[in-house]
Amino acid sequence: MENLKRTSALVLAAVMLLTLHLTAYAASGTGYTDVPENTWYTEAVEYVSSHGLMTGTSDTTFSPDQPTSRAMLATILYRNAGRPSVSTAAGFTDVADGTWYSDAVGWAVENEIISGYGNGLFGPDDPVTREQFAAILWRYEGRPAAVGEDFADEGSISSFASAAVDWVSANRIMNGVGENRFDPQGDATRAQTAQILMNYLAPKEDDSEDDSGAEPAGKILVAYYSATGSTQTVAETIADYLSADTFVITPVEPYTSADLNWTDNSSRVVQEHNDPANRHVALTTTEVPDFDSYDTVFIGYPIWWGGASWVVDDFVTENDFTGKTVIPFCTSSSSPLGSSGTDLAALAGTGTWLEGQRFSSSVSASTVEQWLDGLDLQ
Ligand SMILES: Cc1cc2nc3c(=O)[nH]c(=O)nc-3n(C[C@H](O)[C@H](O)[C@H](O)COP(=O)(O)O)c2cc1C
Repeated sequence: MENLKRTSALVLAAVMLLTLHLTAYAASGTGYTDVPENTWYTEAVEYVSSHGLMTGTSDTTFSPDQPTSRAMLATILYRNAGRPSVSTAAGFTDVADGTWYSDAVGWAVENEIISGYGNGLFGPDDPVTREQFAAILWRYEGRPAAVGEDFADEGSISSFASAAVDWVSANRIMNGVGENRFDPQGDATRAQTAQILMNYLAPKEDDSEDDSGAEPAGKILVAYYSATGSTQTVAETIADYLSADTFVITPVEPYTSADLNWTDNSSRVVQEHNDPANRHVALTTTEVPDFDSYDTVFIGYPIWWGGASWVVDDFVTENDFTGKTVIPFCTSSSSPLGSSGTDLAALAGTGTWLEGQRFSSSVSASTVEQWLDGLDLQ
């Protein structure tokens, strides 16, 4: 009897252990016991696993909180690039030929995606910081230009990573870590790496699946102010070409040609220019019907004294561009875009602002259309 009791207790304990094990093992579709079903990174771990980009640290663990090493990131990108053949050895004293990462490091260095430390060392086991991650991904993408939002710790982003951080934030590949901080010198954990890779690669898959090439990716609005018609012509070209809606930014008191005479010290525009306190221009409305439905907003304006005409200020401050891509454009006699786009982005405080484009007052439609083709919005 005593034996039977003991055996039953042992069987029960074994069943409980097995159940516990199965429960933990089945915690998420990833099969990793340390990746529960509903964390912020679960889907990303499933994505990188199913795409063969990252494997576990053991058969049953992913180690989401461990840092990502330089060798690992080189390997991930190398896998994503299709493991091209590598002509030369990596050439670092700490990267022996024939290791699991030596081809990847050779490839990353050959393509100027990751460099060594300059003393013959690569540091394969060193953790990748978040700003290094941004820079590596940005170089892998071909160093595109972008205007990103400023982070609270913008000042601690190293200069080598500054353009890269702009690009990863503008494209929502890397987001802040809370309180609008980027945490540039923080380690990129493996969970963050999975999430960043999914943010970066999944939209590209969506793009390649959509081969119709005809429909714009989202709904587009072209909002503009034009005092003498040049910006209006560009705005209408954009709207026609992209089948976008237009919204005319209209001052309650329109500017007459006398108002616009910048050679007359007493004209309205000179008075406004001379004293920023006079620059507030009331608009007939800043409310765009169904504004929430737009994914992309072009904002057009003439250049006045080297900057954006302040007529657009109220439109920019009173709308919420969160989740939208904003593309500034302007016309001028000769001045460049300058900081007009980034100034408006700062004024708005929301939205992902691209660098934008300046056109001459008499620009042709085909020049504008060429620029639009390059934006890859279709
Ligand atoms: C008050 C005022 C200031 C201007 N300042 C500049 C300037 O600093 N640089 C420039 O290249 N053009 C300047 N221009 C010219 C306009 O930017 C240019 O004609 C523009 O295409 C006008 O656009 P719109 O017809 O849509 O108003 C100015 C025009 C006005 C009326």
